[in-house]
Amino acid sequence: MYCLNPIRWCAVAVSWGCLVCSAQSLRQEADHAEVLIGTAVRPSQLSEVNYASTLAREYNMIEAEDAMKWWVLRPDRASFDFRQGDELVRFAESHGMKVRGHCLVWGRYNPEWLTQGHFTTDQLSHLLHEHITNVMKHFSGQVFAWDVVNEALDENGNVRDSIWYNQPGIGISAKGTAYIEQVFRWAHEADPHALLFYNEAEGEGMSRKSDAVYAMVKDLRQRHVPIDGVGLQMHIPVDLDIEKRATELRANIARLTALGVHVHITELDVSVPIDTKGNSQAQDLKRQADVFRSIVRACLDNRGCTAIQTWGFTDKYSWIGSHSHGTRGDALPFDRTYAPKAAYRAILQELSAGRGSRELHTSP
Ligand code: XIL
Repeated sequence: MYCLNPIRWCAVAVSWGCLVCSAQSLRQEADHAEVLIGTAVRPSQLSEVNYASTLAREYNMIEAEDAMKWWVLRPDRASFDFRQGDELVRFAESHGMKVRGHCLVWGRYNPEWLTQGHFTTDQLSHLLHEHITNVMKHFSGQVFAWDVVNEALDENGNVRDSIWYNQPGIGISAKGTAYIEQVFRWAHEADPHALLFYNEAEGEGMSRKSDAVYAMVKDLRQRHVPIDGVGLQMHIPVDLDIEKRATELRANIARLTALGVHVHITELDVSVPIDTKGNSQAQDLKRQADVFRSIVRACLDNRGCTAIQTWGFTDKYSWIGSHSHGTRGDALPFDRTYAPKAAYRAILQELSAGRGSRELHTSP
């Protein structure tokens, strides 16, 4: 007697005398639902047995939390250091996982030699073109999708000041999004098979920022600029209106996928308040599970939403602690001992229920 799935089968199986009900993993359910379930990964943690085994068991996609950013890949102007990125790719290949690349163009987390280098626009243009080309060619056939541009817009939907845009920029700051268009074109030339994403923070619902992302992607698509998807980061706190958030997320996913692009939820974490002893409240974790559930459901209900990824998977390692100066945390599906939380069970149940019938728009 073999129990395929705790949710679908165990109640029946127990009455038949099944003793061992082995739970399905997120990745098994995600494969059935035809969606990618991913997590950001820190290569330095892969040597930890619990970390590596949980990762391999539960996820069918990984992304470098930091290992493919400029400050890791470019120790100096002359060299590229692909060691950490290669380690992730090797892990993914040996466990049948896809790899998302993050990120080629961002105004933050750049090395000092670059930001303090007083380069001219021509030099910056050359450096960025070279970076995109070398990195994408290096990972060609290994990284299936790239966040080409990360967080280029501010909360009002204006293009953010950055070294690539206007400080001093790569030479095309007159029309705000022209530099974004340029780097998508370079990325497509470097690896014509990779899916190319624009990834943005705090623009998941309906807002001036998400309106601006939508307008930009619409414009780029209309002019046949090679952009294949939008990444919705989703670093969110537990304490907002779940219904409103889910309704807005659904509407935003619907309008983006109607443009013919994929939507990936790329950096989901749902942080809860942490007390001075480092503990969270049970009721917050319960509510957190409801938040995860509603977001996963919103993605699964639209065929164009093709990946759900959390920013890490264990509360042992999450950027939220340092980002919130210790006031928030416990934002992920596994606790600090790798035990699955209510949030995990909510995600598993939604994946297990599969794709919904409410497909709002055709897939890309
Ligand atoms: C964060 C990482 O988690 C940290 O380890 C690092 O110190 C800073 O960057 N949006 C992004 C991610 O696109 O790259 C950021 O990752 C979190 C916010």
